[in-house]
Amino acid sequence: MSRLTLTQLRQMKASGEKIAVLTAYDASFSLILEEAGIDVILVGDSLGMVIQGQESTLPVTVDEIVYHTQNVVRGSGEVFVIADMPFMSYANNDQAIVNAALLMAKGGAQMVKLEGGSVNIDIVKKLVERGIPVCGHLGLLPQSVHQIGGYRIQGRDPEQAKILVEEAKQLAQAGAGMLVLECVPASLSKLITTAVDIPVIGIGAGGECDGQVLVLYDMLGITSGKRPRFSQDFLIQGKGIPAAISDYVKAVKSGEFPNEDQQY
Ligand code: KIV
Repeated sequence: MSRLTLTQLRQMKASGEKIAVLTAYDASFSLILEEAGIDVILVGDSLGMVIQGQESTLPVTVDEIVYHTQNVVRGSGEVFVIADMPFMSYANNDQAIVNAALLMAKGGAQMVKLEGGSVNIDIVKKLVERGIPVCGHLGLLPQSVHQIGGYRIQGRDPEQAKILVEEAKQLAQAGAGMLVLECVPASLSKLITTAVDIPVIGIGAGGECDGQVLVLYDMLGITSGKRPRFSQDFLIQGKGIPAAISDYVKAVKSGEFPNEDQQY
């Protein structure tokens, strides 16, 4: 039994096979996701909101991501596991290397994810040079929620869209192996997906990305408050959790999810 690799994920992009990604934070869900055919699990700092009940992802610590990553890794043996770098855990190169190493060596992750574009280029280079695979994250950056003034769509104006395309290229050139694009217009994510040769995983970014990710609790309909327009409750059919996850995988792979109404 061996885990999916970044090389295989790149081959999926090249062959047009959609990549199905979900967040998870514990061993039991990790196994259910793997059995349902999920390719990648993201141990997202969204755990601050959906597990801990915090108002944002900002209070999440490196130790907490390490703990949840260990649990996810124990629960499955074949999925590719990405661990989120929490707010301010990569504010400079040295700190980024120490914290990313913890997520990889102690947590057991195969890749780390960090939010932001041009500000992170040097950090991405330094991590990759030391053998740490990096996933970028552009568009809506939840760790910057107070700066951007809420969870809202990004890249609508042409100037901002141009910057996002440039930042995606810069991240790929710096060695990032994957990119998450959050809440951007579908036309922009199509541009970005074709501009870089690394897998681009969308959330609220339309159906033209190489794959899709959702927060597990959102797609099971158990997140409190208003569900974002780009999400879907796959449990609503009442067939149980494993079937809901497997329906999500099928819908991503076939291109049925997201549909026209679930994008911007
Ligand atoms: O923390 C998280 O779950 C994420 C996803 C929303 C992509 O970053």
